[in-house]
Amino acid sequence: MDTLRLLSKNMKIEGNPFGSSHQRNQFFLKFVAFFLLIGLAYRLIVTDSTVSPVPDVRTSPESSPSDPSVLTAVAEAPASVDSPRNITIASQNVVASTKCDIFTGNWVPDPSGPVYTNVSCRHIQEHQNCLKNGRPDANYLLWRWKPRDCDLPRFNPEQFLDKMRNKWWAFIGDSISRNHVQSLICILSQVEEAEEIYHDKEYRSKIWRFPSHNFTLSVIWSPFLLKAETFENTEGVSFSDIQLHLDELDHKWTDQYINFDYVVISGGKWFLKTSIFHENNTITGCHYCQGKNNLTELGYQYSYRKALRLVLNFVAEPNHKAQVLFRTTTPDHFENGEWNSGGFCNRTMPFKESEGEMKSEDVTMRDIELEEFRTTQEEGSNSNIGLLDTTSMSLLRPDGHPGPYRYPNPFAGVKNKDQSRTHQIQIQNDCLHWCLPGPIDSWNDLMVEVMLNREMYR
Ligand SMILES: *[C@@H]1O[C@H](CO)[C@@H](O)[C@H](O)[C@H]1NC(C)=O
Ligand SMILES: *[C@@H]1O[C@H](CO)[C@@H](O)[C@H](O)[C@H]1NC(C)=O
Ligand SMILES: *[C@@H]1O[C@H](CO)[C@@H](O)[C@H](O)[C@H]1NC(C)=O
Ligand SMILES: *[C@@H]1O[C@H](CO)[C@@H](O)[C@H](O)[C@H]1NC(C)=O
Ligand SMILES: *[C@@H]1O[C@H](CO)[C@@H](O)[C@H](O)[C@H]1NC(C)=O
Ligand SMILES: *[C@@H]1O[C@H](CO)[C@@H](O)[C@H](O)[C@H]1NC(C)=O
Repeated sequence: MDTLRLLSKNMKIEGNPFGSSHQRNQFFLKFVAFFLLIGLAYRLIVTDSTVSPVPDVRTSPESSPSDPSVLTAVAEAPASVDSPRNITIASQNVVASTKCDIFTGNWVPDPSGPVYTNVSCRHIQEHQNCLKNGRPDANYLLWRWKPRDCDLPRFNPEQFLDKMRNKWWAFIGDSISRNHVQSLICILSQVEEAEEIYHDKEYRSKIWRFPSHNFTLSVIWSPFLLKAETFENTEGVSFSDIQLHLDELDHKWTDQYINFDYVVISGGKWFLKTSIFHENNTITGCHYCQGKNNLTELGYQYSYRKALRLVLNFVAEPNHKAQVLFRTTTPDHFENGEWNSGGFCNRTMPFKESEGEMKSEDVTMRDIELEEFRTTQEEGSNSNIGLLDTTSMSLLRPDGHPGPYRYPNPFAGVKNKDQSRTHQIQIQNDCLHWCLPGPIDSWNDLMVEVMLNREMYR
């Protein structure tokens, strides 16, 4: 679209009805000036005079994809309309309809591979260090997330750390949040090494600093986000039912909340465990506790919804300034069984967009998440909460889990011993967490887009 032609067209059309009255001429001149300015703006931003009709705008190499003004300006250009009032109205519609849904797309081959390895990042937890633990295939490292209607810019650690100067970012949730923060640290540590300045007794909550940027990063272990008493031995085996307080948030994160500038918070799989529900200091029911204490089975749907309601209301409070992303649930990929019944995940290729079926618990959890998120959006004037909907992109990566490579060389020794024993050695598979490097690295590309360019994803 040639903006100057658009301009002259408007001048002609607007010129006629105004006649020759002095006042009207002035009015007309103001219009001309207005359009010259708009035209100039188009010219400055849209250097290419043959702008394609919209959806691909963000792939254009000369436009910085993170600059929302580019999207707006380019999107307005093709709306060739006859009157000034129509331009504004039409452009609003165009912009609204050209928002790119970055959570819908496919994984495409990317031979450039991950930005870090098990050697260049020293923050990878043993259980997720698939390279080190001897995973033989490496194809799972060579994919990039491609949203259907636009290109996702690659996470730029220099830019990120620059923007995060003097800021504090926190991840709150379970071991998937820890998995995610380790991925972020590995990417950032290619620019500046993180210093761990705090860990709790179990090494579940941690704080790091990036000294030359005065950037602070926390991960807070709070798998229910609620006040909860859990009873586990050091191997993580529970010896008594979880006591869950559905009307009280976990102080571990709420007490620190005021410090944070950015927060990524998430619920998830812990709600599926056996738990006793407490509300208003009385036991109101339970989940997965049939036959015990005559309690009413209310289901994880009940506790998950209550928890999310409480969390979202808290972060939406007007005095809470942090920018928040709520991350949706992570599907697992156990096949032919569950984690404790011989399930495995030995695929070596991603699914295509239509492949891969989500388990009913994941569908239910995600539905609750989206419903509660929308309710918060509708109720509140507070727009500091966004959605980090990683569920579908993650569902497409059955190949990205440690599987047996949660431990070093899981099959070593099996071969040497006599074959009859092979069957008895139960190899524990992890088809829930993600290898590092691995698909979870792409969560950061999306996270930065939505957190820092959020005008575009409302
Ligand atoms: C916009 O243009 C259409 C014709 O293209 C016209 O019918 C409509 O009234 C215009 N709207 C405004 C607000 O000028
Ligand atoms: C990294 O992984 C390779 C296998 O890909 C392994 O040989 C090496 O020992 C690992 N190094 C570290 C430091 O983990
Ligand atoms: C570092 O950042 C924190 C906020 O995270 C701020 O309170 C502090 O003043 C900053 N320090 C310097 C030296 O700028
Ligand atoms: C909590 O319990 C007290 C005393 O039993 C009762 O007065 C109050 O209404 C209850 N509150 C709620 C929210 O149920
Ligand atoms: C459960 O209910 C039955 C019948 O109402 C009763 O006999 C039993 O004692 C109850 N058990 C417990 C642990 O409260
Ligand atoms: C995965 O394991 C199953 C059962 O052991 C086997 O039949 C299948 O061929 C394996 N698939 C791949 C891709 O290795």
